[in-house]
Amino acid sequence: MHMKPVIVVHGGAWAIPDDLAESSKIGVKCAAMSGFSILANGGSSLQAVEAAVQILEDNIAFDAGHGAVLNADGDVELDAIIMDGKNLAVGSVSCIKNIANPVKFARTVMEQTPHIMLTGIGANKFAEKIKIEKIPTKELVTENAVKEWEQYQKYKQSVKGLFNTEKTHDTVGAVAIDSKSNVSCATSTGGITNKMVGRVGDSPLIGSGAYADNFTGAVSTTGHGESIMKVTLARQVLFNMEKGESPQIAADHSLEYMKNKVHGRGGLIVVSKSGEWAARFTTRRMAWASVENNILTYGLNPGENFQENVHFKL
Ligand code: GLY
Repeated sequence: MHMKPVIVVHGGAWAIPDDLAESSKIGVKCAAMSGFSILANGGSSLQAVEAAVQILEDNIAFDAGHGAVLNADGDVELDAIIMDGKNLAVGSVSCIKNIANPVKFARTVMEQTPHIMLTGIGANKFAEKIKIEKIPTKELVTENAVKEWEQYQKYKQSVKGLFNTEKTHDTVGAVAIDSKSNVSCATSTGGITNKMVGRVGDSPLIGSGAYADNFTGAVSTTGHGESIMKVTLARQVLFNMEKGESPQIAADHSLEYMKNKVHGRGGLIVVSKSGEWAARFTTRRMAWASVENNILTYGLNPGENFQENVHFKL
């Protein structure tokens, strides 16, 4: 069967300050278009989500790769995951340093090791061994990240306090289905500002930050990591779809469950095995974009749904 390809990307949940709103929208649109061009040329969903997330990691508007937030020591520790719904192959990295594109590294872990997740020093050692370029931390750090970190230091604001107020931005991700009906997902993040050194969030954890299975669909999540882990949000969405819910209803029910059960907020993107998709969130904003049938759809505020025609040869 020849499936119509679909890609959906997100640039993270939370408040997204007005000065980042436009660049976030442009960023997710570019990433969705690049990922879709791979699908339109017969590429796999795995290639598409990796490429889309790499573009988001390279964009300083987002908390992933370049633009990542800083931990309590003012350092950058990155997490990422990629998963192939065809065979449940998955690779993930956590607490890694000095690597510009954690999603690419996660794919290497998936393809070149017998393991699923590498963390910290061990992960960086493996990166060195396979000659992944090491970049100085300062190249990943933006002025915004430093300002945010300085605020935390100045007011001794705890990470708990952060979620009682509103975090500015979060995590990036992508889900896709290709013309062979294979689904994939990828998620990448710098985590949360002022996190403890060594803290790992939901993003690199299978079933929490992402999950993909051709049997149901693919999900990438964003939001309060400690809450997302408690409800294994990505897998929860797919469980709801397996009970017969549409992607949108399954997403809303899962996000509501997280809010009611553990007082956690967040967002997610999902694509089903039949190419139905949704982008949903319970935070103030979430930048997202999708491409299907030569229509680019995107939004940032609740209820927003802008559309533009695009011109891929399908
Ligand atoms: N959702 C990203 C994190 O909490 O690390």
